[in-house]
Amino acid sequence: MDAVGESGRRVAREDTPQRLCLLEELPFGGARGFDPWQTGEDSLVVLRRGAAVRAYHNRCPHQWSRLEYRKDRFLSADGQHVICYAHGAHFDPDTGGCIHGACLGQSLRTVPCWTEHGWVWVHVRREVIP
Ligand code: FES
Repeated sequence: MDAVGESGRRVAREDTPQRLCLLEELPFGGARGFDPWQTGEDSLVVLRRGAAVRAYHNRCPHQWSRLEYRKDRFLSADGQHVICYAHGAHFDPDTGGCIHGACLGQSLRTVPCWTEHGWVWVHVRREVIP
């Protein structure tokens, strides 16, 4: 559950594994947004890459904009890159590194993510909700 931090802002739970969805609910090679910090918007993007999953904060390192142009639309048309639709930066889906665009050399912020017994989990760290 969320709590209120010293500043009066909501904070997520500290170092708590959180179950997001069944692996089968993530499309192969696809991406989906989640709201584990209960901010009212998808603050996390989870990618399914073969048998592996990756999770990143849904914020671009260029100007901290959200990445998608509409619900769950995080990928390029060919599905090969994560795209920031604000200014078109391209990111490697396996590393989160920017490979083209305004934030070249920077990376999406990784969130620990794994599968267990058919479920997708993330490790939610204490963080002030922006
Ligand atoms: S905010 Fe993402 S490329 Fe500018």
